[in-house]
Amino acid sequence: MSAIVGPQACLSQAPDLQPFVTDYRGLYVGQAAAVVLPNSTEQVSQVMAWCHARGVVVVPQGGNTSLMGGAVPEPQGQAVVLNLRRMNQVLAVDTVNDTLTLQAGVTLNAARNAAEDAGRLFPLRIGSEGSCQIGGNISTNAGGTAVLRYGNMRDLVLGVEAVLPDGRIYSGLRGLRKDNTGYDLKQLFIGSEGTLGIVTAAVLKLMPQPTASSVALAAVASPAAAVALLGEAKKTAGQAVTAFELISGPALDLVLGYLGNVKSPFEARHDWMVLIELTSGASSESLDQTLMQVLESGLDSGLVLDATLAQSGADAQTLWRIREEISDAQTRTGGSIKCDVSVPLSRIAAFIEEASAAVLALEPQTRMIVYGHMGDGNVHFNPLRPADRAAKDYLTAFYEPISRQVDSLAHAAGGSISAEHGVGVAKRDDLSHYKSEVELALMWQIKKALDPQGLLNPGKVLPAPVAAQA
Ligand code: MLT
Ligand code: ZN
Repeated sequence: MSAIVGPQACLSQAPDLQPFVTDYRGLYVGQAAAVVLPNSTEQVSQVMAWCHARGVVVVPQGGNTSLMGGAVPEPQGQAVVLNLRRMNQVLAVDTVNDTLTLQAGVTLNAARNAAEDAGRLFPLRIGSEGSCQIGGNISTNAGGTAVLRYGNMRDLVLGVEAVLPDGRIYSGLRGLRKDNTGYDLKQLFIGSEGTLGIVTAAVLKLMPQPTASSVALAAVASPAAAVALLGEAKKTAGQAVTAFELISGPALDLVLGYLGNVKSPFEARHDWMVLIELTSGASSESLDQTLMQVLESGLDSGLVLDATLAQSGADAQTLWRIREEISDAQTRTGGSIKCDVSVPLSRIAAFIEEASAAVLALEPQTRMIVYGHMGDGNVHFNPLRPADRAAKDYLTAFYEPISRQVDSLAHAAGGSISAEHGVGVAKRDDLSHYKSEVELALMWQIKKALDPQGLLNPGKVLPAPVAAQA
């Protein structure tokens, strides 16, 4: 292997392997024989051909920020981790075609900066943008806080280059918005979590750069009031509604406990809040006026209980910081049950009510960390251990029953048990309960067609073949 990538880019000593076999929350620890860091698609292709000829398992890895254990090897085995961080070149910015062509190891932050330098926006926005990579964003079909306006990663990808398990290169680096020439093969590599091929480069869509934004935090009477307010915001502000994030009272309490220097934006404590962001090419003043109009009509109708409109960029950043710290605050506390579900907006309020009641019936002291991208129907429904209960005890007692209840309720409401975090290892076996026989059989048929030896990221996404192929 070092003959392909060079000795410096082929690691095999245990201490060197450690960061590549452990996920960032330290929940999944795997085993690997080596880590390779290729610097070109050609090298990825050669590594794959080498491994294919010898029956060696390969685990592709970008920024290793997965929450689902999808980017680290299995606990037993002799896998090779193929990390793409050296493939970090922006290849082309085309401001006529409005596309950005880059290698898979470019971080999301660097991709956004490259777009901004060209006077454009690459709109994907997620908390880990400083370390997650475009290849991983594509492989997991990343979502985040701007999906309401711009869609998921899948909606932002025009072309993909990927290396297949046998080393062949699928070259689909086209920047076309229309291409109806048969099967859209790039879709196979988007959201399949590195089980069908390794994304090595991509062509992404660029958007016009908004010139103004307006941000507010509103306390709302209930999740149902939040949904109604979203309807009002869309009616008043149309396309400008870019983010609409739900935050539960316990989620705000948790974050404020860690952010010592940030005060609650409200005098009273509220059970539910929404962070609203409008962006557009208009002036900031007119956007603020539009958002004020939404908030005032919400106050008049009783949907909104209190609201604060950011008066400056710094204010807006503080409000966003509160939202973005919720995930880390849970990691630091330990003992949260991360359910990442989506439900049609028309049923989301009832879902939150039912799922909360089900969880509190099991353990009334649970802290209900409920937040997320309500505007697109995605709720991070993350029951957290009571403050005086050890994480291990809480998870042992409640991880299984709570996740099963929450997932079943989301499924029953026409929802998904993994809205944006993917499947990885964490949700793999659950798929057999929530996907039909036909869906599972098709997934396995596709896997077998592309990776008949099962060498690429095994143990991820697909539940055991026994159940799936029955
Ligand atoms: C978020 O929206 O903050 C992310 O999906 C991360 C998380 O929920 O942990
Ligand atoms: Zn999220």
